[in-house]
Amino acid sequence: METKIQNKAYFANEIHFEISDIKDRTEPRNILMASPNYFDVVDVKNVHMAGNAGKIDKKLAHIQWNELKSAFNHAVKEKVLDNVLVIDGAKDCEDMVFTANQSFPWIDENGNKIVVMSKMRHDSRKREVPFFEAYYQNLGYKTLHLNQTEMFEGMGDLIPHIGKRLLYGGFGHRTNKDAYTELSALLQVPIIALELIDERFYHLDTCYVSLGKDAVMICKEAFTPEGLQALAKMYKRVYYIPIEEAVDYFALNAHTVFDFVSNKKIAFIHKGTKVTYDILKKEGFEIIEIDTSEYMKSGGSVFCMKMMVY
Ligand code: ARG
Repeated sequence: METKIQNKAYFANEIHFEISDIKDRTEPRNILMASPNYFDVVDVKNVHMAGNAGKIDKKLAHIQWNELKSAFNHAVKEKVLDNVLVIDGAKDCEDMVFTANQSFPWIDENGNKIVVMSKMRHDSRKREVPFFEAYYQNLGYKTLHLNQTEMFEGMGDLIPHIGKRLLYGGFGHRTNKDAYTELSALLQVPIIALELIDERFYHLDTCYVSLGKDAVMICKEAFTPEGLQALAKMYKRVYYIPIEEAVDYFALNAHTVFDFVSNKKIAFIHKGTKVTYDILKKEGFEIIEIDTSEYMKSGGSVFCMKMMVY
């Protein structure tokens, strides 16, 4: 019997399908960054920011951002990515450098590029969204808006299953649970909604890293028992990263890119992890370690500092 999968939000305890029931999808191959011209910590939007207002070494932040950009350009040279795109950081948008958050780009079943614009929790971050909307329009995207949702922070919380038309959506801190009902209808895709229960893991991208179609790395403490079960059902291999590495090194804010033709895969990660590093090695990644210390003072690292765009 064929499994009927609907384009709706599935809460973690309702998953009756297998990953093999889900249609395939082409991954985007461009990376969008925002220049750190106005990057700063001026308030406390997440627990990692506490005590860090005024503590950013601006010069070092620029150096680190450029190192990350060079690392992404290495992936372009290796033909795992096509382009690194840069949008100018805007004045009074101190968090704009975290380009994972303002939007969620997608491709519909006919190959059209669409993007849902975020509804940021904090006022200062709401100012960032129009810059991205204009940028996407130039790239030929159709931009979509949420009507019934109060909070949704883009790919910070909504992360695709690699190569599949399936999404995982974190909720509880920066995105409302109900957002996924509206988003699944808008994007025409099933979404597995996962509650995030620890404030240190305030976005899904702080506790979840895709390693490909079959494997994922997560931090147990971030999820409910039902959420952990749902992930174990969708992935052949689930690696549990110790909470210290996930919190102190932002290990689960690493970014992974894949080329399915050459089978090359590259992981970008804040420097110094041990358990996470070994898992990435074992899974066959080329690993590029980068120092993101200045951005971690704001609660973000590699994954937050880029957006994958079609
Ligand atoms: N200071 C930013 C905020 O709290 C950090 C965002 C990090 N981004 C992420 N995708 N986790 O909004």
